Amino acid sequence: MNKVTQDQIKVQKIGTSKIDQVDFNKLLFGKDFSDHMFECDYIDGKWQNPTIRPFGPLTLSPAAKVFHYGQAVFEGMKAYKDDNGKVFLFRPDENQKRINKSAVRMAIPEFPEALFFEALHKLIDLDRDWIKPGNGNSLYLRPFVMATQAGVSASPSDEYKFMILMSPAQAYYTGDVRVVIAEHYSRSSNGGVGAAKAAGNYGAQFYPTNLAREKGFQQVIWTDSDEHKYLEEAGTMNVFFRINDTLITAPISDRILDGVTRKSVIALAEKEGIPIEVRPVLVSEIVAAAKNGTLKEIFGAGTAAVISPVSAFGYKEDVYELPSTDGGYSTKFKKALMDIQYNRSEDTFGWRYEI
Ligand code: COI
Repeated sequence: MNKVTQDQIKVQKIGTSKIDQVDFNKLLFGKDFSDHMFECDYIDGKWQNPTIRPFGPLTLSPAAKVFHYGQAVFEGMKAYKDDNGKVFLFRPDENQKRINKSAVRMAIPEFPEALFFEALHKLIDLDRDWIKPGNGNSLYLRPFVMATQAGVSASPSDEYKFMILMSPAQAYYTGDVRVVIAEHYSRSSNGGVGAAKAAGNYGAQFYPTNLAREKGFQQVIWTDSDEHKYLEEAGTMNVFFRINDTLITAPISDRILDGVTRKSVIALAEKEGIPIEVRPVLVSEIVAAAKNGTLKEIFGAGTAAVISPVSAFGYKEDVYELPSTDGGYSTKFKKALMDIQYNRSEDTFGWRYEI
């Protein structure tokens, strides 16, 4: 399945690679970027000048609407290298569809599918050396779109820039993930932009997440904004709960991101015959299950986070420690996903996409 049918992108290659300046054994997530980036502008009602050029600064008017109204959406994807040097993306069509869905919600014009795939192919191909083989190594891709028209009138921009940056990555979370259940702040609300990967959804979480950090938690599990009764998603990942042998996760709504890893875990569970319930998850049932010992696991699922087991959760004044998840569902799903991503297992779902 190679989706490149066009040759529209102009390529300006870097003179000298900066790859030797990067310590691939000590990567901080999202800090280093590969040699090239992709950009394309929306001007006069059409996407134009698609270009790959050396990673570097942009020149933008300080009045660009993105700075004033946060009109921006993004995606997160990863490229993996197998032991024979072949490079794969994982379900890139899902990200392509989702960035356009997010764009529509933020009154941003959709980006053409063919150009998206041509950009992925050319960009990844140029910077292939930045993808290291080995479990956990990847090149994190950050496609994003922002409003570039200069002007502070509060209305959608007439001009946009679509870009793709690439950053070598290892695990997003190292060590235990401790989460706290939101009781006051909210990530999203009915009719809002929670289902879109809108830049502001993430910025808005920073303050409550900082408060959580001060209390020893890495992430907040967001609850519904009306009553804080239902568990929805964490800041950088969807969330799964295991009570006895049943896996439970909240359904997608206009408050919850339709995560690619989330839907892959659901498909894997169904294939394995693991009982799975996609339904509203009450805070009270999870607290009760933690108290009576039937809550076996909580884990997050996301592109950056992969599968991240949660070791404890806080709710009101209490902290509930969870049993070790070694050998549990999270271990099983992480292995199954990574085996597909790194081309170590048969891809019965057709999720691998070779570059
Ligand atoms: C991703 O998993 O790609 C995300 O969106 C998380 C990111 C905000 C670090």
